[in-house]
Amino acid sequence: MVPSKDPTQTVPTDPQEQQEERPVSSLLIVIAMQAEALPLVSKFNLSEDQDSPFPKCVPWIRYHGKYKDLEINIVIPGKDAMFGVDSVGTVSAALVTYASVQALKPDIVLNVGTAGGFKVKGACVGDVYLATDIAFHDRRIPIPVFDQYGVRSRTTISTPNLVKELGFKVGKLSTGDSLDMSSQDEELIRANETTIKDMEGAAIAYVTDLFSVPTIFVKAITDVVDGEKPTAEEFLENLSTVALAMEVAVTQVVDFINGKRLSDL
Ligand code: ADE
Repeated sequence: MVPSKDPTQTVPTDPQEQQEERPVSSLLIVIAMQAEALPLVSKFNLSEDQDSPFPKCVPWIRYHGKYKDLEINIVIPGKDAMFGVDSVGTVSAALVTYASVQALKPDIVLNVGTAGGFKVKGACVGDVYLATDIAFHDRRIPIPVFDQYGVRSRTTISTPNLVKELGFKVGKLSTGDSLDMSSQDEELIRANETTIKDMEGAAIAYVTDLFSVPTIFVKAITDVVDGEKPTAEEFLENLSTVALAMEVAVTQVVDFINGKRLSDL
């Protein structure tokens, strides 16, 4: 793991850190759904871990392998033991990220996944975004300072070369535990000028902030939140196609990171 006191800074300020800065060698990719992860597992030719660093009782899965100069780990929270569906949402995302960061000590984390997009902010189905900012939209605590703690709005690490080279769209990401959007969520989302809405990003950021691991959020749009179609229907309709678009985009990101130092991103 690359030590960094401020995760929002790409270039280390400590001279010793600067000296020690080396190309990124270990990448952890956190993904909520198996359908989102599998195209990437096969693209990077990763194998499922038979001797997982996780406790035996959890459904979390780790795929790992070497791709170019990078040690790549993809982790997913796996299927819920009671309902057999992917363990989407903030709780599972935070837990699997915590355990993975502890066990694997990555230089950098990528949170990859599908998201809803706001057409009022220019998002369309199939677009791939890099998040510039991240916040929660469903943690309402109307007490001074706790209100800000709940939303926990912050900027992500700056990756100007990555954005310029790959030409992805950029926008603010907001996270909550629901696929739909209540009127209270919507109010906060609009006030924060959000473009992308997901169910994991800010929870993953909370964990990677604790450990000062730089984190990049790559989100592909499956549904237009402020469009005509019901969100769940549009999401399911587009999931497999968008997962393939995401595979192409994430490969570009990983190829770009390969051989570079954090400060080159
Ligand atoms: N993932 C895909 N679409 C989403 C949406 N509309 N809200 C939250 N997470 C999503």
